[in-house]
Amino acid sequence: EKAGFDHFMLKEIYEQPKAYRDTMRGRISEDGRSVVLPELNMTPEILRGINRVHIVACGTAMHAGLVGKTIIEQLARIPVETDVASEYRYRSPIITPDTLVIVVSQSGETADTLAALREAQRCGARVLAITNVVGSSVAREADDVIITLAGPEIAVASTKAYTSQLIAFYLFGLYWAQTLGTKTADEVAHILAAMQSLPEQVEKILAQAETVKAVAEEISKHSNLFFIGRGLDYAVALEGSLKLKEISYIHSEAYAAGELKHGTLALIEDGIPVIALMTQEELYEKTLSNIKEVKARGAHVLGIINEGHEAEAAKSVDHQFAIPRTLTLLTPALSVVPLQLLSYYASLALGHDVDKPRNLAKSVTVE
Ligand code: BG6
Repeated sequence: EKAGFDHFMLKEIYEQPKAYRDTMRGRISEDGRSVVLPELNMTPEILRGINRVHIVACGTAMHAGLVGKTIIEQLARIPVETDVASEYRYRSPIITPDTLVIVVSQSGETADTLAALREAQRCGARVLAITNVVGSSVAREADDVIITLAGPEIAVASTKAYTSQLIAFYLFGLYWAQTLGTKTADEVAHILAAMQSLPEQVEKILAQAETVKAVAEEISKHSNLFFIGRGLDYAVALEGSLKLKEISYIHSEAYAAGELKHGTLALIEDGIPVIALMTQEELYEKTLSNIKEVKARGAHVLGIINEGHEAEAAKSVDHQFAIPRTLTLLTPALSVVPLQLLSYYASLALGHDVDKPRNLAKSVTVE
């Protein structure tokens, strides 16, 4: 059932191109110019009446939500807050009938997320669920549901469910933008065209998995490292760091690249690995100066860069991994893949149980 792969996690990483295609299938009009989401119960009028969004989830799904925040704010220009579900209820969040609460959960059974959903509904908000399991508790109780079509995810560390959640956010964000007119029809069509190239681009990344393996083996000798990035790269850094911690038990911290100098720069010492995400073109120069700060203190830097920046990046980083060119907004759907591979190979090098890491469960049904 692992279809020739050594672990479910690796199989699921390789299933991502299919998961992207399946999650997009039938949700893009035949002419490729608009999003169709017939599964939504909310009418365009309801959507037009929403003036704030709360995204609530746990773990990896929460990290998809951080990307979702930028997607919705950029496409629909509606303000979005994100919360971890176990905190949400206890901060007296301002939930009104004009609030859309989006809960994200692979399993649809996470107790913290379900409790947040119920609290949101009690306060009169509409709840949209993004989940991978039809008929799950979250899917049954939400007002609207977008099912990710990642297929069953067996490995505890989430990979294809996370990236499918990103695809769901892109689709919903575009649907919202076309409803409000915050993006022109041509802009929507342009983004959809780029989305349809993502599966093939992930395949190109997977074809280079061996280069990640060598870096992962090096990293597995360390007990501490950093992930840095700005903007969407920071959201992906958080997920890369979580993945590594979950299955390799190597401690790492994700930092907004520009914040490092305000806090933990003292922890950057000779030889420490730093994974630097450098895919946000408009922030590239700024990130580069943060890389110089860590290099000056002896860090060993792996840069995740956009194709075309190889020669230039070689001057600043020790290793690099290039992802195919896409729109800035879509980069997380590509840049997370080398980080998934990195944690997989690091865990493997350390001889850990990749699919069933210690102390973690696939779905946690207690608060
Ligand atoms: C945790 C899992 O307990 O729950 C994580 O170990 C997962 O991998 C998180 O991301 C949320 O799960 P779900 O099913 O709500 O997405």
